[in-house]
Amino acid sequence: MIIIEKIADLQAYIKSKQVKSVGFVPTMGALHEGHISLVKQCVQENDLCVVSVFVNPTQFNDKNDLERYPRTPEADQALLRAAGCDIAFMPSVQEMYPEEDTRQFQFGALETVMEGKYRPGHFNGVAQIVSKLFDAVLPNKAYFGEKDFQQVAIIRDMVKQLQYPIEIIACPIIREESGLARSSRNTLLTDEQRKKAALIAQVLTKSTTFATNNTVAETIQWVNQQFTHDDEFRMDYYEIVDGNTLQPIDNWNDSDFVVGCIAIYLGKIRLIDNIHYKG
Ligand code: PAJ
Repeated sequence: MIIIEKIADLQAYIKSKQVKSVGFVPTMGALHEGHISLVKQCVQENDLCVVSVFVNPTQFNDKNDLERYPRTPEADQALLRAAGCDIAFMPSVQEMYPEEDTRQFQFGALETVMEGKYRPGHFNGVAQIVSKLFDAVLPNKAYFGEKDFQQVAIIRDMVKQLQYPIEIIACPIIREESGLARSSRNTLLTDEQRKKAALIAQVLTKSTTFATNNTVAETIQWVNQQFTHDDEFRMDYYEIVDGNTLQPIDNWNDSDFVVGCIAIYLGKIRLIDNIHYKG
């Protein structure tokens, strides 16, 4: 595996390899099994696997969150090497943003809900960096995790708008033994909080059973109730949406693809997860 910091070096190196297919996994580092599952699939399906590690400042609407975000470049390199990654692209902020990126993307109804609503500007920042990375890597396929369900929809829409000839591949959520969705932010939890956090996935799973005999509104209410017994939990949102449009549904029959998406604080740490009810 080679580590590259400059876009020009990255492009020259990829070109020199003269491969048929380039696969790409964008990440913000502090890598874990979730990221590595994407990398392994990318390695399997392409001649060359490029992984970027870059904590993108423009997608953080909370300055403290950006400062707190874990950074483990050495461990990341070791994990990537072991997973079979060919190129680790680890640029500086100056390299990716030599000047301010003033582009404003429009994602319509996709960005007025959930993360888009609760983290204003977040997806614009994601689109800015992912489009810059796509331009730098020019991959045939790019891999994203379903853990960030809304992000996949936004990226698919961006690819359509900018007419990138890139296939977007959505990969399943990888979980800890307790069921907690793996996240770089989990390392910011205390041991006790990490145990408590298992409740999130447990409630989502149980809610699929609850849903069989109850309405959408009742299911949302039930999920909310499960987190009221512990002061450390603070719900941002629980929404049950059409998996394609991301718009809330009123009845289970409104769509063939129904997903429940949660964002919840545990202490100061904001965690997200989702579950399929249908499709
Ligand atoms: P990051 O949070 O580092 O995640 C990188 C990729 O790994 C994303 O596609 C994310 O959905 C996926 N991922 C994270 N945890 C996962 C899990 N438990 N199971 C499966 N996949 C998981 O998402 C970002 O970075 C950034 O927004 C980025 C796209 C890199 C743009 O800066």
